[in-house]
Amino acid sequence: MGLFAKKSIDLLMKESSDSEKGLKRTLSATSLISLGIGAIIGAGLFVRTASAAAQNAGPSVTIGFIVAAIGCALAGLCYAELSSSIPIAGSAYTYSYATMGEFIAWIIGWDLILEYAVGAATVGIAWSEYLNNLLTNVIGCKPIPFELCHSPFEHSLDGSLHGIINLPALFIVCALTLLLIRGTQESAVVNSIIVIAKVSIVIMIIVFGWSFINPVNHAVYIPPAGTYVDHQGLPHNFGGVMGILGAAGVVFFAFIGFDAVSTAAQEAKNPKKDMPIGILGSLAVCTVLYILFAHVLTGIASLEDFRTTGKEASVAFAINKYMIGFGWLAKLVTVAILGGFSSVILVMLLGQSRVFYSMSKDGLLPAVFSKVHDKYKTPYKASLYTLILVGLFAAFIPGDIVGDMTSIGTLFAFMLVCIAVIVLRKTDPDMKREFRTPWVPFVPIMGVLVCGAMIFGLGWTNWLRLIVWLLIGFIVYFGYSKKHSKLNNP
Ligand code: ALA
Repeated sequence: MGLFAKKSIDLLMKESSDSEKGLKRTLSATSLISLGIGAIIGAGLFVRTASAAAQNAGPSVTIGFIVAAIGCALAGLCYAELSSSIPIAGSAYTYSYATMGEFIAWIIGWDLILEYAVGAATVGIAWSEYLNNLLTNVIGCKPIPFELCHSPFEHSLDGSLHGIINLPALFIVCALTLLLIRGTQESAVVNSIIVIAKVSIVIMIIVFGWSFINPVNHAVYIPPAGTYVDHQGLPHNFGGVMGILGAAGVVFFAFIGFDAVSTAAQEAKNPKKDMPIGILGSLAVCTVLYILFAHVLTGIASLEDFRTTGKEASVAFAINKYMIGFGWLAKLVTVAILGGFSSVILVMLLGQSRVFYSMSKDGLLPAVFSKVHDKYKTPYKASLYTLILVGLFAAFIPGDIVGDMTSIGTLFAFMLVCIAVIVLRKTDPDMKREFRTPWVPFVPIMGVLVCGAMIFGLGWTNWLRLIVWLLIGFIVYFGYSKKHSKLNNP
């Protein structure tokens, strides 16, 4: 026993709840694709696309979307093998505990905090931008004062106003956490409505926006390589190959959530055939929509717009300013996006509280994290601690920073998942695999390289943030978790 102690699959099965063990195989390939799209389309598309264009790649953000999609497809195939070999529902944390041992599981679990908690904060901040847009452009009242809807690290374009706290972002994560504690689960009907609304808006913007593309905005499709320093003083790789890789890292956020498909492996009717269709299908649909959307968005408004007045609620801004006669579309987009973002935040908060809950059950986090509410039967303490973490990020850190932290943390976890597939084929060749990643080791190695390239493109400030995050994780692991791990201290 020690750093690489593995949890046996029997133990995992015993611990998993009856409902999990007996999950019914009801999901078809189409429902898996719909599940994926529901979890995928959100702030990444409606907020990060414009940021990536402004700060990294200009119109070539479309190529960034292609790179990010390739990375996701490769990692997704690896993810599917892991999730199909552990016959209970769970996350990459659970799979890696059974296959690669405690320390790697810890790193992945710690990284998933970046994906879920920091990701939820990012979408909360995006929600705050569109709430202001709702107030001013749809309802017609005054916006929330700058100080109360921005982090202390942000100032207005002319430098005259400074943020204090992002109250709307804090509000939405608090409200959704309460919903989660009460055990409200989004019904399949609500999920379908949201999926249809999200996809319809994206298609409408592409179709109606196409004729508003101004060729001047696309004249330099791939800007020359250089560095762009934003108005907060942060440097970004801009233009050329590095700009495209940086943009890929930023818009990678828009694909996060497709791994939700792989966690449903036990509910798929025919996992062997339906899992790759579900994962690759939802990725393919989103990729096509994303590329067309990004092409239209960067064609309608200029880079200068997205760096200045159109930096926030960028899509509604571009429609209002340039698509004359389509004010109704901007209003529709704003309302639908607020609903769509809420559902993404809910999924992420749920994911985070589950990861905290599992880590606590294993003794890697204090027992309070797995306390279940007497009445609602939900891990409410885990949800409350999640809220504190997400709330702090949402209220006090700028959206661009939390967005990039989410991307880099998730990319790193994906790299570990790809490596795990190669290692396990060697160390545990007979393990039951309902779905096998094709062309191992080519696919996982390419997954590591493409995700690694995106991490590279995100630039040194983000590498530093990831390293600091991992170092804090090591301190917690060696200071607390290793000593309290149930596996190491039976
Ligand atoms: N992919 C999700 C979004 O873009 C996380 O909001």
